[in-house]
Amino acid sequence: MRDNPIICWCISLQLVILVALLASVEGDIESNLLDDDGGWTTENKDRIAQPGPCNINVEDGSLTQEDFIKKYAYSEPVVIKEATDNRVFQTLTRRSALLEGYGHTTVRLSSANSYSYDKKDVTFNEYCIRHVHPQKLTTLGNETFYFFGDNNHEEWQDLLEQYKQPPYRLPHHLPALSFGLAGPGTGVPFHFHGPGFAETMWGRKRWFMYPPNVNPNFHPNRTTLQWLMEDYPLRKDDPNLYECTLNPGEIIYFPDKWWHATLNIDSSVFISTFLSP
Ligand SMILES: *[C@@H]1O[C@H](CO)[C@@H](O)[C@H](O)[C@H]1NC(C)=O
Ligand SMILES: *[C@@H]1O[C@H](CO)[C@@H](O)[C@H](O)[C@H]1NC(C)=O
Repeated sequence: MRDNPIICWCISLQLVILVALLASVEGDIESNLLDDDGGWTTENKDRIAQPGPCNINVEDGSLTQEDFIKKYAYSEPVVIKEATDNRVFQTLTRRSALLEGYGHTTVRLSSANSYSYDKKDVTFNEYCIRHVHPQKLTTLGNETFYFFGDNNHEEWQDLLEQYKQPPYRLPHHLPALSFGLAGPGTGVPFHFHGPGFAETMWGRKRWFMYPPNVNPNFHPNRTTLQWLMEDYPLRKDDPNLYECTLNPGEIIYFPDKWWHATLNIDSSVFISTFLSP
């Protein structure tokens, strides 16, 4: 049977259209993933800090509880990708959803210095509009106010219950959640406490860590941004400095008493799971 050129032509045209359609759908999904910032938009000019290298072990969701305990729990930090699917919680933490649900509530801000001395109460709405802006290089940490932790658990419980916690346990420890959000260039300077996990729902975050026995030299009232600009260039090759840039959905584990400092590259929404005996 001879091929009918018109039928052939039609079929190829249909194929071309189908392929083009699929490509555009795929393009849309991809560009949504890349461009979707949950409404927590960061202008390019406001992005002072850029992503950096990663010398912390990176695992994926195939890391077992047993290996987590053996390799990391008591010895070193680890980044774990794709361990949980928090798309539902991510949707609930879009700017519009949070403003609608929590705009009228009062949140307690902490100063962003190492020992978080000062507190300040504002409405969540006011925080999002007046405080979630780029960190200035000249502003000190003790003069920067930041919403992280101090969550009124009655008010925020419905939301926090939707968060799927990292699927790893430390024996004899219980998790407590701390939720927050802040503008580009903000972060907490070096400090330490008990072990835990952290991740962002929106925005990228840089992490810097030192083992408990290595004291990072820093001024407790200076910001991580100031440290990045002035100290980091001199210390980035120090083998004791652990660092990584995390994307939304990637989890970092900090062991007990490890020094850590954070730096939000973009406007970020984040949550930590602190583990206490
Ligand atoms: C913030 O810390 C700096 C340096 O430690 C200090 O000079 C300044 O007075 C502090 N600001 C406030 C508001 O306490
Ligand atoms: C840091 O700032 C706090 C309050 O703003 C102040 O009380 C403290 O003395 C400052 N620390 C240093 C080391 O300057």
